[in-house]
Amino acid sequence: GHPVLLWESLPSTQEVLKQMARNGTPAGALCLAEEQTLGRGRRGRVWSSPPRGGLYFSLLSRPRLLPSKIQLLNLAAGLSVSRSLQQLFGIPCQLKWPNDILWQGKKLCGILSETACEADRVHYAVTGIGINANIALSAFPRELSDQVTSLASILGREIDRGRVVAEIISDLHRRLALLENPSGEENLIAAYGRHCHTLRREVRVLTGERIYEGLAVALSAEGALCVETEEGLLSFSAADVVHLRP
Ligand code: BTN
Repeated sequence: GHPVLLWESLPSTQEVLKQMARNGTPAGALCLAEEQTLGRGRRGRVWSSPPRGGLYFSLLSRPRLLPSKIQLLNLAAGLSVSRSLQQLFGIPCQLKWPNDILWQGKKLCGILSETACEADRVHYAVTGIGINANIALSAFPRELSDQVTSLASILGREIDRGRVVAEIISDLHRRLALLENPSGEENLIAAYGRHCHTLRREVRVLTGERIYEGLAVALSAEGALCVETEEGLLSFSAADVVHLRP
């Protein structure tokens, strides 16, 4: 019952859905592209999106969340991706806070949630998911080749990308619906905490301004990462994290 747009090539699935959201498209719309010419990653980075083999898609939602809780969308999407890959292929992924999915320490999937807020509520949210699906490792830029992996290289065969999207989207719809319940936010944080590879680990946190090191001990009610540092317990809502030990 939700509109699905499939494009051969787009600058970015995020931009198309954000435009549609501004024009009043209801929650649930999904936009996929075979290739993105201006694929975007977190913190202004580029998301390399070559044609044939990758999975690039975005979902429009209109969650009843406070603007301070938008990190929860990334956590929900991360859980949906990792559960779906486990379910479909038996691959145990690692959830790296806030929104990377790793396999044996290498990046398999990235997630980017962008929101527009009005007063004290989220007007719309667009959650973009990029998965290295049927991509040969040799197709990645040389400087990335030891940091990334793909489903095809893990499994030694090409996978049905349609099944992957369908599984992730139906799981994510379920999680977003659960967020509408009073205990939904707490349950989501608890579920992420159980699966999060970053917790209970020595980390280096890069905020853009400074670098911190310490032990990741907990997630806040907003989904921020709480780290025990030499300067005391600090919480980070947006940052890049490096796991100091595998
Ligand atoms: C990251 O790890 O930095 C997040 C990457 C998010 C990439 C996806 S691909 C589909 C959607 N469209 C974009 O331009 N970016 C997201």
